Amino acid sequence: MAAKRTDTAGQGKTLPRHIAIIMDGNGRWATRRGLPRTAGHKAGAETFRRIATYCKDLGVEYLTVYAFSTENWKRSAEEVGAIMSLLGRYLREAVDTMAKDRIRLRFFGDMAPIAPELQALAHQTDAISESLSPGDFQANICLNYGGRDEILRAARRFAADCAAGRRAPEELDEAAFSALLDSAGIPDPELIIRPSGEERLSNFLLWQCAYSEFYFTDVLWPDFDEAELDRAIAAYQGRDRRFGGVKK
Ligand code: IPE
Ligand code: IPE
Ligand code: MG
Repeated sequence: MAAKRTDTAGQGKTLPRHIAIIMDGNGRWATRRGLPRTAGHKAGAETFRRIATYCKDLGVEYLTVYAFSTENWKRSAEEVGAIMSLLGRYLREAVDTMAKDRIRLRFFGDMAPIAPELQALAHQTDAISESLSPGDFQANICLNYGGRDEILRAARRFAADCAAGRRAPEELDEAAFSALLDSAGIPDPELIIRPSGEERLSNFLLWQCAYSEFYFTDVLWPDFDEAELDRAIAAYQGRDRRFGGVKK
């Protein structure tokens, strides 16, 4: 694994430990082919499988993907249902394969409004993930996720702990707040990729993106492939990350 970290796309440069992707463009991909939008989501789910495997093979430690936002409920019941059923299919497959493939899965987002069957599958994949080693590749699936909602849920939890006398306001610093987020314990993504030509975050990882490098491409998510990921990583490796300092 260590050897692989540098030999693809990297050419000796540092590979991001954590890559995050806004999986956008499924609907347009389908419409351009005269297909229903749901066909685009099906193709997009395949792309996710492929890119997750590629990230794992490269030696990336975490891949976080935006699958369904807190705003995506505005779409038709048919489209929402199709996305949820594709997710169910993926999770049923994952239950059978993730231990063998050594892929850990975690969910970011508010699971409360998610159908009980999907929640039950998520509990199963959580339990399997627990049984794997912390060093194994981890995919984080953002489902009913919004960056603002994540920050609000964390703030409410901390406020409730203060009101109950368990914590005090002075204890809250960046590390303590990060530990209350869905991404607790995971390093911030060094690289955030958005395909489909849109150049916005759409409420993705608002806290975690403070110093992320962004990579935008016009390619639609179902057409995104290993070569596209290599290009994104190469672009990242050419960036000068200063974190507010001055380059020596
Ligand atoms: C991303 O693709 C998937 C979800 C938001 C669930 P879209 O469905 O947003 O595709 P476009 O942007 O309409 O092409
Ligand atoms: C962001 O894409 C959410 C996901 C990819 C899951 P959207 O398609 O929902 O974002 P907007 O509406 O173009 O900002
Ligand atoms: Mg979209």
